[in-house]
Amino acid sequence: MSVDDALLAIEDLAVTVGTDEGKAEILDRADLVLRPGSIHGVVGESGCGKSTLIKAILGLLPKRTVVERGRVHFEGRDLLQLSGDAMAREVRGRAIGFIPQDPFQALNPVFRVGDQLMESLRWHGLPGEEAPLRGRVDRATRARHRAHLVSVLSAVQLPDAEQALDRYPHQFSGGQRQRLLIAAALSTRPKVILADEPTTALDVTTQLQILKLLRELAERFGLSMIFVTHDFGVVAQLCDTVTVMYAGQTVESGPVASVLGAPLHPYSRMLLACHPDRAVELAGIPGAVPSPLKPPSGCRFNPRCTDARPVCAMARPAVTTPASQHRVACTLYPPDADPATRAA
Ligand SMILES: Nc1ncnc2c1ncn2[C@@H]1O[C@H](COP(=O)(O)OP(=O)(O)O)[C@@H](O)[C@H]1O
Ligand SMILES: [Mg+2]
Repeated sequence: MSVDDALLAIEDLAVTVGTDEGKAEILDRADLVLRPGSIHGVVGESGCGKSTLIKAILGLLPKRTVVERGRVHFEGRDLLQLSGDAMAREVRGRAIGFIPQDPFQALNPVFRVGDQLMESLRWHGLPGEEAPLRGRVDRATRARHRAHLVSVLSAVQLPDAEQALDRYPHQFSGGQRQRLLIAAALSTRPKVILADEPTTALDVTTQLQILKLLRELAERFGLSMIFVTHDFGVVAQLCDTVTVMYAGQTVESGPVASVLGAPLHPYSRMLLACHPDRAVELAGIPGAVPSPLKPPSGCRFNPRCTDARPVCAMARPAVTTPASQHRVACTLYPPDADPATRAA
């Protein structure tokens, strides 16, 4: 799988942020390939840079962050080179939708749900139509937007869609609010949806329902999705392909069956280790993710790695492809024999 056949690809992304204690390297050599029509998981412990990766794609990196290197390929362009205005008009909330983490915070308690969901259509227009000039919509357009939202709310299986638009966020349960936010992301018919731990705040049963819904929606609307989680169980249930991140770096990526069934990087193995029946869950790994202010040299995982050798602290390991479409950055694996397979 090369960057050329990807719908969206992150290549060699490095992001730093200026802090009072110095420059922190939040992302370094982060890579990700999203194929058309697939759901791609991004997994790693808290603090590994997953949210920063999503913000970089959306052009929402906070102040004081600097993109030092890298590209975000999407529809023949590098999103990192687009102006803030072009990102807001053409990409964010339009071609690329976003489902936030916390359904309790993402909706404003004082406005009706319909008015909040209508906002995105007001700026971007209905799918396939021109955006209204300066967000001004007349009565007839507003009625069409509302009808569209009713159909989207039915697609996310929210009961009484028509009435739901007139209610306030507190009148919905956590799972229903997450359905509202999924509807908001879907309403402009994006090609890609980015979801940052969207089920973390929900109970297990509701989480399962939402994952099932996302899978169905992806198939029905031909959506591609990047799904951030710290839970390998979620990856197993939902995703086709996965990237494992550690301390701001991509350490392993590939098809879910291959990465979860035969993990290559010691970090992935330690995360997955634990259950003989391969029920997948995050196991506690001794030690902690290093501070981005002072990341270890060489492989960033080397201080916690049981397989570490002196070479691991000296140079960054090269990325190799030991199994089909399954890539890893670790000195345990010999370099690819044929450079052409690197693109595989
Ligand atoms: N604006 C910021 N200023 C300083 N440090 C930050 C900032 N944003 C993120 N970080 C740090 O970068 C690292 C990665 O953060 P994040 O992308 O939120 O990781 P994740 O989503 O995987 O938990 C963390 O160590 C975090 O403290
Ligand atoms: Mg996060």
